[in-house]
Formats: sequence, structure tokens, C-alpha cells
Amino acid sequence: MKKRDFIKNISLAGMAVTSLSFPLTLNATGHLKSAGASYNEGDFWLRIREDYILKPEYINLENGYYNIIPQPTLKKYLEHIAHVNKEGAFYMRGVQEENKARINARLAKFVGCAETELILTRNTTESLDLIISGYPWQEGDEAIMAHQDYGAMLNMFKQVSKRAGMVNKLVDIPQDPISDEELVALYESQITSRTKLLMICHMVNITGHILPVCKICDMAHTHGVEVMVDGAHCIGHINVNIEELHCDYYGSSLHKWVAAPLGVGMLYINKNKISKLWPLFAESITEQDNILRLNHTGTHPVHTHLAIADALDYLELIGIERKEERLRHLQRYWSEQLREVESIKIFTPTQVHRSCAIANVGVIGIPATELAKILLEEYSVFTVGIDNAGVNGCRITPNVYTTTVELDHFVASMKSIAAGV
Ligand SMILES: Cc1ncc(COP(=O)(O)O)c(C=O)c1O
Repeated sequence: MKKRDFIKNISLAGMAVTSLSFPLTLNATGHLKSAGASYNEGDFWLRIREDYILKPEYINLENGYYNIIPQPTLKKYLEHIAHVNKEGAFYMRGVQEENKARINARLAKFVGCAETELILTRNTTESLDLIISGYPWQEGDEAIMAHQDYGAMLNMFKQVSKRAGMVNKLVDIPQDPISDEELVALYESQITSRTKLLMICHMVNITGHILPVCKICDMAHTHGVEVMVDGAHCIGHINVNIEELHCDYYGSSLHKWVAAPLGVGMLYINKNKISKLWPLFAESITEQDNILRLNHTGTHPVHTHLAIADALDYLELIGIERKEERLRHLQRYWSEQLREVESIKIFTPTQVHRSCAIANVGVIGIPATELAKILLEEYSVFTVGIDNAGVNGCRITPNVYTTTVELDHFVASMKSIAAGV
């Protein structure tokens, strides 16, 4: 279906949505209920979609960069901006720190760690670069990471290697592993007596591949090696309990799947590892094991921190298990229809538990950026083309507002492109 038909169909879908107006509320047992109306699971997600203002010109399947925020969170966020602006320095000198600590505690509970092991940052880059640059490297120390890791972190390791003389070793993550043990053995094969730190993605951003974090951490610890986890895509996307992962460091961006406003992230540091790190910006706090010693950033947008609580309210109203299940369903819905199609290649593991919302698909013979251009210009589907580290396809990332009608259009578009090569 090309552009003209698509726009006609999407407006019909919009009419169906507007007939489902009911507020989201919790009943006494904490389950979602509608005020007066009964609804099935499909209606529930259409109701969620009502909370988003979406551009009608294209279907947005690029929600991996950041999640646009739903209207209830946006409304609260704008109120926080107005409030802080009205109070000015009175707010900053008064309740700023108290509010930040309260939000930090709420987030710690959500991600499953102690509030004394968690700080708010601007994003995953700041969180993980703080660890990489603040680690007490000695010349000849080694770190292990993957070609499929995020560029900003790989660049920071390169910089630290130049400054401190430490050595970086890279592995290649297989696209479709047969077992967790295969992945554990891959990382273990690079460990030597000089290895200090291992970086792993919880979810690889270019393919959506979810790694067996706990098993890799347990293996690394038997060799005395610490593990830093890049969880940019996981908090608010899949059900994460940091303590259960056994990692030493965990960074994430809350403007991704928590759907907080742009510019907030988090960093978990195991309590026994805090004291050895150098901060990015020097702090006056002198107790070595106080995590706040690593959290000096100067004046920053505090209203954005306030909106984290609203984003968590919205997320908890949906329920993280329900959200994870829905996102995985949406991904499998389209990817299973395309896996066996001639000329189409999926760059995401086949086993269900190894991915969630994100997957990557290419058409053999068409460069990824060209495919993204065709999808947008000829089929009104917005994605991102990725040609890197063994991947040559478009990253497809639905969100909570995505419908199967939209995915049907995407599947038909891909089949038609593949048939033309
Ligand atoms: C795996 C991974 N790590 C880190 C980042 C950096 O996130 P941010 O730009 O929010 O710091 C991203 C961004 O997409 C990512 O995909």
C-alpha cells in the first residue's frame, strides 16, 4: 500500500480509537480498570494510543532513539517547568535536593537497588563514561567489550587507552546464538590475569539482542573481573531488577523507555565499588563510599527530574510486565511474517526471550540507509538504517502506541520492496 491509500486507512483507524474514551485508573487491587466501560486487551492499547499526539504523515517505527512522552506526563512536565520558573532560586536553595533524593529513592525501588547505590545523570553516555574515565586504570590493564557496543562508550575506552595505557579487547556477538553458554564462553575466552572490566550491552541497540547478563557477570566474577552493563534500552522496556543481575555498574537513559523528558539517565554502582572511582566533576563530599561524591553536575534542569516521577506513574499504570509482553508481541508480530520471505534478512536472534521491542531487518542487495529512505518516501514508514558491525538493515522499534494495523502496512511494504529486488 503506497502513500495515498495509507493516509486514508490510518484516518479510518483514528476514528475507531476516538470511540474508546475512558480514563485509566487503578482499582483496589492495583489492577487497571476503566471507569464504567469494560474493555479487552486491544482496547487497552488503543486507549494508551489516545494519550499520544502522533504525526499523521508517517508511522513512527524509530522509538529506540527516544520515546516521545504521553500527554499526561507532558502536562505534568510543563507544570514543573512553570513551578520551578516561578520559584527560581527559592526552589533551588530550598527543596531541590530533597526532591531529587525522593525521586532517586522511587527510581531505586523501580529498578531494584538501594537508593544509596543510584544517581541521576543526564543519560547513559554520562553514566558509563563516568565509570570508564573514573576507573583507576594502571598501564597494561585490560577491558573487554564488543564491536556491537555503542559508539560513544567504545570511543571513551579508546580515549582512556591513549591516556592510561590500558588495552581494549573486542569480541563479535553472534547474531543468533544457540545458548547462553555460547555467549558466556565468548567473553570468557578474552579474559586474562590483566583483565579488570568487561562491558556488555543488556540489549544491543542495533539488533535488539538481549544478553544473558547475570550469567556473564557470574562468570566474570569467578575471574575477579567487574562488569559494567549498558542498559540504555532496558529500564522501562523489560522488567529489570538490577540486584538480580549481579553486575557492578549499570547505566540507562530514562528518556528512552521510561518515557521521561529528554535529558535524564541513571547510574547504579555496587556499594563496594563506589570508593575507588574518580568523579567526572569534583565534589566537596569527602566520604569515599558516598555515591553523591560522583554526582556533581552543576546547575541542571531540575524540572526534568521532577517529571521522572510522573513518567513512572504512567509506566506503573500500564505495568512493566504488561508493557514488556506487548512490545515483544508487536516485534514478533511483524518479524515472524518476514523471517522466511525471500531476499529478507532479520538480524535479531530467533529465540523469543533474546529480544523484545527492537529488531533489525534488511533486504539483501539494498543498503540499509537506502532501505530507510524507500520506506519513508514511498511507504510513509520512519525507521533508521544501520550498516555497522555485521548488520545491514533498518532498526524497527514499535512503541506502546503502535497498532498491528500499522505493522501490517510495514510488513506489506517490506514484502513489496523485497519482491522488486
Ligand atoms: C546501547 C546504547 N548505549 C548508550 C546509548 C547512549 O544513550 P544516550 O544518548 O541517551 O546517552 C545508546 C543510545 O541510543 C544506546 O543505544
